[in-house]
Amino acid sequence: MKAVEIKPDIYWVGAIDWAVRDFHGYVTPNGTTYNNYLIVDEQVTLLDVVKHGFAETTISNIKSIIDPSKIVNLVINHIEPDHAGSIDKIMELIPDTTIHITEKGKKGLDRYFDTSGWKFRIVRTGDTLNTGKRNLVFIETPMLHWPDSMMTYIKEDKVLISQDAFGQHYASASRFDDDFITCFSGSELEDAVKDYYANILMPFSALIKSKIEEIQKLGFQIDMIAPDHGIIWRKSPSKVLNMYLDMAKGKTDLAVVIIYDTMWNSTEQMALPIVQGIKDEGIEVKVIKLRATPMSVAIKEFWKSRGCLIGTPTLNNIMFPSVAEFLTHLRGLRPKNRIAGAFGSYGWGGGAVKEAYEEFKRMGLEVMEPGIQVVYRASSEDERKCYEFGREFAKKVKEYHGRF
Ligand code: FEO
Repeated sequence: MKAVEIKPDIYWVGAIDWAVRDFHGYVTPNGTTYNNYLIVDEQVTLLDVVKHGFAETTISNIKSIIDPSKIVNLVINHIEPDHAGSIDKIMELIPDTTIHITEKGKKGLDRYFDTSGWKFRIVRTGDTLNTGKRNLVFIETPMLHWPDSMMTYIKEDKVLISQDAFGQHYASASRFDDDFITCFSGSELEDAVKDYYANILMPFSALIKSKIEEIQKLGFQIDMIAPDHGIIWRKSPSKVLNMYLDMAKGKTDLAVVIIYDTMWNSTEQMALPIVQGIKDEGIEVKVIKLRATPMSVAIKEFWKSRGCLIGTPTLNNIMFPSVAEFLTHLRGLRPKNRIAGAFGSYGWGGGAVKEAYEEFKRMGLEVMEPGIQVVYRASSEDERKCYEFGREFAKKVKEYHGRF
């Protein structure tokens, strides 16, 4: 896609990755974009580069506006390879440019590239860069989501270049939120925001809340949020800011997700009356079978629901492997403000449901105990108990949801 002017003399010069479906293990059914931005001012300034393999695309976009040799400043907000992976190719064109970067960013970049001939300026929160008519203000955002991360605020244009934050993995021909929702629904965009937050930013919710409050205290007016992935928030930057604040505070849907796997369909058979029990308590419920669903989709659905029930058969006295994998992955994301429970079938010796509860407790999640287990195959009496288990869990979810 060609360069797009997002504000007078500020251009999107990034690349659309229509084809990527596996983003370091995170499934991206809609592809993604690597956004970077060019400010044409007395000092021409490039904000971020793009993933390795897309250097020619961004160079071509830059060339459609100016001669790249005119770039005197390169701001690197984040060194992860999807953004900084092509910096060596860019620096071949602009060897004398100054790279503005955090201290941790510089240290990380030194590990990925031979930076010995490059000029750096280490920046911290509040440091500025005057490009002529504009002043750029840097805001360090360590652990949002890497130690090096920062954002750049373009004061005169009221644009926040927000790096990964507020982004979405969504390849689209539209660059702006208002363009996107003329063809696609706003809820699709919101879903992409939640998907990104759940899979990338869930562990950092407390930091997100305090960083947004810090930005608000700095008194920056924000007309536009331009992330490094997906759609630019031109019409409604406050919408995504508020979504982030809500998610960081633990707001979610009053809903339950059942995430399960099954060997000979016994655990699956248990899930069905549980679903009915939850629904009969007036709570929406979704069912995700792990081996039929990408991990990142299961994580997103977990994040969108107040309650989660894990269904796992016992295999060799422990959890079914796909369920164990899911819970280990989830623990790394440090989930909070959710209530969980477990159910499952076993043959001659249980163990999986107990292990699932141990995992919930390691994560610090609220739980409804005990879980429910059946031997081999649920009888009609077992199915009745599963239905009651579902109803009971739904009641607990309602009660817990009331705290938020
Ligand atoms: Fe999109 Fe943290 O890289």
